[in-house]
Amino acid sequence: MSKYKVVLTGTTWPEAYEKLLEQCEVKVWEGPGPLPRDQLLDWLADAEGLFNVGHVKVDEELLDAAPNLRVIAQSSVGYDNIDVEACTRKGVPFGNTPGVLVEATADLTFGLLLSAARRIHEGWELVKAGQWRTVYGTDLYGKTLGVVGLGDIGSAVARRAKACGMNIIYHNRTRRPNDEQEGATYVSFDELLTTSDCIVCLVPLSNHSRGMFSKEQFNKMKPTAYFVNASRGPVVDTQALYDALQQNKIAYAALDVTDPEPIPADHPLLSLSNILITPHIGSATYETRNSMANLAAENLLAGLSGKPLPTCVNQ
Ligand code: DGY
Repeated sequence: MSKYKVVLTGTTWPEAYEKLLEQCEVKVWEGPGPLPRDQLLDWLADAEGLFNVGHVKVDEELLDAAPNLRVIAQSSVGYDNIDVEACTRKGVPFGNTPGVLVEATADLTFGLLLSAARRIHEGWELVKAGQWRTVYGTDLYGKTLGVVGLGDIGSAVARRAKACGMNIIYHNRTRRPNDEQEGATYVSFDELLTTSDCIVCLVPLSNHSRGMFSKEQFNKMKPTAYFVNASRGPVVDTQALYDALQQNKIAYAALDVTDPEPIPADHPLLSLSNILITPHIGSATYETRNSMANLAAENLLAGLSGKPLPTCVNQ
């Protein structure tokens, strides 16, 4: 039996790669650097499947360059790099990896909040510098957490926050059906901004959410507010966040995602003392990234054999 022709835009986890190799002839980009666009389009000329790692942009141009493409699988839950409508128009199913990364991403998101509130990272820096002294933080117990974008990850963050004795409010564009059972109270975006002690942003990046945290929103927050972004960098206006932190309009920010990303070492945000940034590692545990790669491989193989994708965005 001849093998499916597949393009893999970067290296993936061994288990998933083995699965692919059983049924596919794989052109894999191993660097250095990201796969050049020309090379990708050239490889796609006869490809039947695209396994996208590294958030390579998928648009009309790419789809036109791949006339035999029958499926695209991506090893992430976010897919703001994919023109899903164009995929649908061309009849190409696109699969992402929801579910498997919920707990790991919630751990990191809540970890950012906890570390910011209790200055864990600052304490470690002091100890390393030979300065054994008290660093004061703030209690999470009894405080109000506002979750913007209460989906599966937001709900898992809320569970962790409740275990710490926090009250949960949230705002979504559409109210979540079982929010009362989850112990989360639905409020308007404005009410969330003005009443939360801590705000966690977990909305997907879209035309609606781009820049939704800007000067106006930071001005409405409490001066003691902690702000965490674990979704996508461009949901936040970086200059407005810098100003809010620098002018103490809010107390602290903890980000796993930035705009630009990666954020350069000489970026003004990094000169502030009331910020903590991690390098987009929400789902980065061995177990979770392995599961994401396996699910992406399952999506790809299902699409190649004409079956429904286990987790398809546009079917
Ligand atoms: C996701 O899965 O969307 C994470 O942010 C990693 O890109």
